[in-house]
Amino acid sequence: KTPIPQAKGIDNTLTLIKEGFHFIPSRRNELESDMFETRLLGQKAICMAGEEAAAMFYDNEYFKREGAAPKPLKQTLLGEGGIHGRDGEDHHQLKRMFLSMMTPERLEDMKRIAVEEFDKKVTEWERKDAVILLREMEEIMGRAGMRWAGLPVKESEAKERAAELSQMVDSFGGSLSRYQDGKHARQSHEKWLEKIIKDIRSGKYNPPANTAAYIVANHREPNGKLLDLHTAAVELNNSYRPLVATAYFIVFGALAMYEHPETVGKLREDKDDYSHMFSQEIRRYYPFAPAMAAKAKKNFTWNGYKFKKDQLVVLDLFGTNRHPDNWIDADQFIPERFANWSGSPFAFVPQGGGDHYMGHRCAGEWMTVMVMQAFFRYMTHNLSYHVPEQNLAYDMRRMPTMPQSGFVISDVRKLRSFP
Ligand code: HEM
Repeated sequence: KTPIPQAKGIDNTLTLIKEGFHFIPSRRNELESDMFETRLLGQKAICMAGEEAAAMFYDNEYFKREGAAPKPLKQTLLGEGGIHGRDGEDHHQLKRMFLSMMTPERLEDMKRIAVEEFDKKVTEWERKDAVILLREMEEIMGRAGMRWAGLPVKESEAKERAAELSQMVDSFGGSLSRYQDGKHARQSHEKWLEKIIKDIRSGKYNPPANTAAYIVANHREPNGKLLDLHTAAVELNNSYRPLVATAYFIVFGALAMYEHPETVGKLREDKDDYSHMFSQEIRRYYPFAPAMAAKAKKNFTWNGYKFKKDQLVVLDLFGTNRHPDNWIDADQFIPERFANWSGSPFAFVPQGGGDHYMGHRCAGEWMTVMVMQAFFRYMTHNLSYHVPEQNLAYDMRRMPTMPQSGFVISDVRKLRSFP
């Protein structure tokens, strides 16, 4: 007999899609437990949240990723056969490849390239009455990511390739039409990347040796072989596509500045690294990645519950970021909370938890925070804009979510050029 409560329903997959970010937190609340049993994707699943649960979820002794991610997610957002679903030494090898792209020089490159792309767009915005910030940011991040990765992108195709990335990111937890758009975008984008990787391997195209394009094309597996062409395309995409997700955090940052106007002056002054605290709080407070799935590696008991080998387990990332055991006034936006923060790798998990090298924690976390800080700096130093009346509410049932209007800004003026 199980000592943890069970959520109602024969299978809750559709309910999860319908309730979005609320699915796990509202049941935890109702059942008064950080852990509950339910059925998802036609199988028994354990949903859990909080620092302790996250520490267990990210322990490679107990959990594995093989077969955990649902197929539709692999067909759209993640790609098939990539790092997300790997375990053990196989995962470590690939993780080292990703982290070798994230040297301080390359992070600086990304910051410079992203701000340059931002600055270029602002020149276009000045000639328009209004723009939808989310759409613009997605394009900026897409262009910046592809440039940083060392891809040969022609100006005539950049917008379209960036749109493919946005469609992949927008597809998760979505309707059939978003799923189909995401799947087609991925197929087209992977085909393009396969051609580029072939050209690199044959010496026809020579990107710099420190770029993702070069690193992935020439990466060798422990058996000495190059990655097969499709896996290489998936991993190359994994090295810059997720930057588009940062567009959502920038827009939530704009929303936070609008709803908490006192943050604007603080960002401009940037005393005590305020822009870092602000960026952390954006990542904690606003919803983006809802949850992660894994499977039990073996039979074991934890907190009195018997986990069965291959059982599906889902960690509530969003709920962990707002867990009352770790966060005072968790449902309020307070950047200063990060001034005295303990730094637990399991209580703050907007991009996964644990260790970047040993586990699945996001390879792009440092880059994300760096780009966020640079953009908030640009927005408060170099830019003036007006926020006209619009619907800024975001729907917690949609994944990913964003202000309904996409955050429209008007009367954009560049106060000074970058830098
Ligand atoms: C993994 C979120 C930006 C590359 C992940 C995971 C999450 C995540 C939740 C999975 C953690 C897990 O498996 O337990 C985000 C968010 C981002 C972001 C919310 C920004 C808004 C980036 C960027 C890059 C990146 C900018 C690279 C340029 C990766 C890679 C993995 C990963 C390669 C796989 C790591 C592994 O399986 O070991 N990210 N990410 N991400 N992310 Fe990010």
